[in-house]
Amino acid sequence: MSGGTVFTPARVNLIGEHTDYSGGLVLPVAIDLGTTVKWQPLDWLIRVRSLAFGDVVAIRADGEGVATGWGRYVAAVAALLHEHGRTDDGIDAVVSSTVPIGSGLSSSAALTVSIALALCQAAAFELEPLELARLMQEAERRAAGVPCGLMDPACVLLGRRGHALLLDCGSEEYRHVPLPEGIAIVVVDSGVRHALEHSGYAERRAEVERGDPRRIRHVASENERVVQVAAALEAGDVDALGPLFRAGHDSLRDDFEVSTPELDLMVDLAYELGAVAARMTGGGFGGSIVVLADVGSASALADAVVAAYRERTGREGRFYVCETVDGAAVPR
Ligand code: GLA
Repeated sequence: MSGGTVFTPARVNLIGEHTDYSGGLVLPVAIDLGTTVKWQPLDWLIRVRSLAFGDVVAIRADGEGVATGWGRYVAAVAALLHEHGRTDDGIDAVVSSTVPIGSGLSSSAALTVSIALALCQAAAFELEPLELARLMQEAERRAAGVPCGLMDPACVLLGRRGHALLLDCGSEEYRHVPLPEGIAIVVVDSGVRHALEHSGYAERRAEVERGDPRRIRHVASENERVVQVAAALEAGDVDALGPLFRAGHDSLRDDFEVSTPELDLMVDLAYELGAVAARMTGGGFGGSIVVLADVGSASALADAVVAAYRERTGREGRFYVCETVDGAAVPR
């Protein structure tokens, strides 16, 4: 192989939050923000330069070596692929990304999956997308200590343009649900990152595993909402989406306690200003909301949400009107 380029999209979850790690249902879409890795072959070394951070990671091709910061993700990916039979071919790579870090758009899955695909290309090594997704779930745990679920790597690999990915994280069965015409998906980032993000996530997972009744109530009701949202999308019943997203947000705020006052405010503003549906998205403790809006008014609506949010909190939000794209494992 004489080198190549890999692009892995980010994802935004429509509904099914904090359900993946207990084998529940999720409904994310792959979006047109993403991470690109350009690579050339190297003998036995993995050398990755980040345009954003100006950092260089240099480790052995089997993942051994001292890595810090985002380099720990690269090392974890390389070590896991080595353990699963990849030959130790090195790469000299440059990574660049349009995914904002910590916004709830799975910047880390976009990074791990794109590094993994570059390493797989370099060694002419292939894994089934869901097997690769499982390894990347493990990479996140090894690199950052976050006991995350399968949703993010599965979506950035298996998403499909114009569709949401309905994935059962227990059976690992999935299908693509068509998105209705005329509806835009907008992400509005609250600009707030909470230190609790990682520890709070692990704590919630442990609470679910211990059977805390309120946490379980969220998971059960959320799984039900995923089924209902998928059915509404398939039927083109856009009016059903608002109440379902609203109930999902309220459950994350009250039963699961992973929302923030900023996310709550932005969701309320989105509904007041005419959104079809809105709720917090991703792991919570800061990050973004997802808004569904009529295509013709989506930008103006998001602008108005950001302006009202600034006026009420003094904080700068940012929005992205997303295009849906194919996942990285979908042949182009
Ligand atoms: C993070 C994790 C996912 C999932 C969501 C919450 O994005 O990486 O596995 O648990 O939080 O739905």
